[in-house]
Amino acid sequence: MNLAVIGAQWGDEGKGKIVDLLTPHVSIVARYQGGHNAGHTVNVGDAQFILHLLPSGILHPGVRCVIGNGVVVDPDALFAEIETLATQGIEVGDRLLISDKAHVILPYHRELEVLAEARRGDQRIGTTSRGIGPSYEDKVARRGIRMADLGDTSDDGPLASAIRQNVSARNRAIGGTETDWRALHRHLRAAWARLDRWVGDASLFLTRAMEAGQCVLFEGAQGTLLDIDHGTYPFVSSSNSTVGGLCTGLGVGPRSIGAVLGIAKAYTTRVGEGPLPTEQHGAMGDQLRESGREYGASTGRPRRCGWYDAVAVRYAVRINGLDALAVTKIDVLDGLDEIPLCTGYRHAGEVLTEFPSNAATLAACEPVYEVLPGWSSPTAGVRRYEDLPPQAQAYLKRIEAVTGVPISIVSTGSDRADTILVAGGLIDRWQAECALASK
Ligand code: IMP
Repeated sequence: MNLAVIGAQWGDEGKGKIVDLLTPHVSIVARYQGGHNAGHTVNVGDAQFILHLLPSGILHPGVRCVIGNGVVVDPDALFAEIETLATQGIEVGDRLLISDKAHVILPYHRELEVLAEARRGDQRIGTTSRGIGPSYEDKVARRGIRMADLGDTSDDGPLASAIRQNVSARNRAIGGTETDWRALHRHLRAAWARLDRWVGDASLFLTRAMEAGQCVLFEGAQGTLLDIDHGTYPFVSSSNSTVGGLCTGLGVGPRSIGAVLGIAKAYTTRVGEGPLPTEQHGAMGDQLRESGREYGASTGRPRRCGWYDAVAVRYAVRINGLDALAVTKIDVLDGLDEIPLCTGYRHAGEVLTEFPSNAATLAACEPVYEVLPGWSSPTAGVRRYEDLPPQAQAYLKRIEAVTGVPISIVSTGSDRADTILVAGGLIDRWQAECALASK
C-alpha cells in the first residue's frame, strides 16, 4: 500500500500538489533524494505553500515526514523553511525525522558550484546554485559531513578535523576570501543545537512503521530526465530521482514499494540547459509559459516549454516501472485549435521510438508529431472525467496508448479540489485499500 510518486519529465511536473492530495491516506511522507533545489508548490484555497526540502506531507497535521539519507540538507535553508511555514500556521514540531546519514550542504558548496558553472562557460548546466552538486561530490569522495557527525560537540574531535581538512581544500580550490574553519565549526555546532531533536535512524523508523501497518508515501524530487544516471547527462541533477534512488535514499527494500505513480504535465517544461526536443520558441512557447505560470518555484527562472513528449514519458515508464500516470495542468492547453503530441524522434534519417542514451544524440533529434484536435470548452476546474470535453478525453486516451500505462489522476487547476480521480484506476483503488486498512 506504500506508494511512490515520481517525476516522469524534467521536474516541476506538479508532484507537490499530487503528494498533498494523497497525504490524507497515509501516516508518513518520505523524501529520498535531492535537496532544496526542489520547489513543490501547493495551493490550498487562497494560501500558497512552497516546499523545498520538507516533504509536502508536512502541511497535514499528524503526518510524520522523513528526510532520507539520500537527501542533502542545508541546515540554514531547512530552518528558513520551517520558519516560513510557522508564519503560515504550519508547525513542524516533532513530526520531522532527518536521517543521521543524510549529508550536509555547507556554505562553500554553493561557492564551489557557482565557480564550476562559471568555468563551464557555454557548457554550463544551469544549476540552481544551492550547493547540491558539490555536496554530493563530497559524499562520493568520502569526505562529506553527515548529520550524525554534527553531534560531535568537542573542540578538536573528528568533526573539527573534517571541517579543517575540507575547508583547506576549499580554500585551495577557490582562492579569494578564505573560509574560516573555526567560524564554520561554530556555525555547525549552533545548527546542531536545533537539529538534534529531528535526527535519527530513518531506515529503522520506516521499517518499524511499515511493519506496524502504517502507510508511506515516497516523494520524489526533480524528475526522471534529471536523474544522474538515467537523465540527459551531463545536464542533470546529482541524485537518483528515479525509483531506484528510493531504496538507497531511505534504506528500505524494493518490496516496500507497492505501486509507482508517475507525474507528467500535459505538455513539457525544463529549467536550465540541456536538450528538450519538443521545445517551442517564440509565441507558442511564451503562451504555454504564461498560461502555465512556468517560472521556477526555487529560482524564479522562466521555464522552457514545449509539447508533450511521449518518447520521454515512455522512457520514464520503463526506468521506474510506472504503474499509472497523473497528468497535470491539462487546463493550460484549453483553447488551442490543435495539439501536437511527440511520438518519435527523427535522427540521421531514421525514426527513433526509444529515448537515446546520449544527450548529444537527443539534441540532434527532430520530434515526430501526431496532431490532435484541441478543445474549445474549458477543462479548467473540471472534477469529473465525463465532464471533460471529448477532445480532451481523446488526448488523454492517446497519451495512455503511446506511453502504455493508464492515467489515474487528471489535474485541472492548481487547487486541491481541481482534480479528477479516474474511477477504478490505481489511485482510486489505492485510496479504498488505505481506507479499509485504517479501520
Ligand atoms: P542542480 O540540481 O541545482 O545541480 O541543477 C541541475 C539541473 O537540474 C539544472 O538544470 C536545474 O535547473 C535542474 N533542477 C534541479 N532541481 C530541479 C527541480 O526541482 N525542478 C526542475 N529542475 C530542477
